Amino acid sequence: MNNVHILSHVLIDHKMAKLRSVNTGTKEFRELIDELSTIVAYEGLADIPTTTINVTTPLEVVEQNVIKENSIALVPILRAGLGMVNGVLNLLPTAKVGHIGMCRNEETLLPESYYNKLPAGIESMIAIVLDPMLATGGSAIAAIQALKDAGVVNIKMMNILAAPVGIEAVAKAHPDVQIYVVKVDRCLDENGYILPGLGDAGDRIYGTK
Ligand code: PRP
Ligand code: URA
Repeated sequence: MNNVHILSHVLIDHKMAKLRSVNTGTKEFRELIDELSTIVAYEGLADIPTTTINVTTPLEVVEQNVIKENSIALVPILRAGLGMVNGVLNLLPTAKVGHIGMCRNEETLLPESYYNKLPAGIESMIAIVLDPMLATGGSAIAAIQALKDAGVVNIKMMNILAAPVGIEAVAKAHPDVQIYVVKVDRCLDENGYILPGLGDAGDRIYGTK
């Protein structure tokens, strides 16, 4: 799968150990999601389009590549995806942010859409779908389809933790989307939870359970 990029770094392993732990509380969990989101964004943004400007240093004028204005939209999948937004904005403070609300039905495991608000002009931007968890892939596939239906042609996705089955499903459904994943786990359990995983990301970010 040429469109799947899985990160590997000793710092990632260190942070993942804390993120997974049942003893990590809401504040630290949120901070870790923030840090890992910055790391995955650093990797995933390496090839975004640039334009060249002249910069005057104290000594001379130099040509320098900079990111094009209004070229990136972050699209978190509510609610857990919101937890990744600030970590990416650390690197790209002027990015627009759209929101797609998806909730996985606990019985069918199918995504149910409940909200969609995208920035004006998103069809000419690179849209970056954010969701810490990629389990069956249903939510990601539906969110990416919603972006395509809105006319977006250049889409990336960034996740913290994924199951192999979910990565395969998204890569097959949307082979044109570049997927950046911090860590891939073993499998899903009978309730669609990633194993060994970290539990319910939304509940851990917002302290709702
Ligand atoms: C979680 C997660 C993903 C989805 C992944 O959201 O944040 O959006 O499940 O599962 P899938 O790959 O099988 O679709 P959830 O539906 O629990 O909603 P929440 O973010 O509001 O907690
Ligand atoms: N959503 C989560 O938050 N965690 C999982 O393990 C699977 C889906």
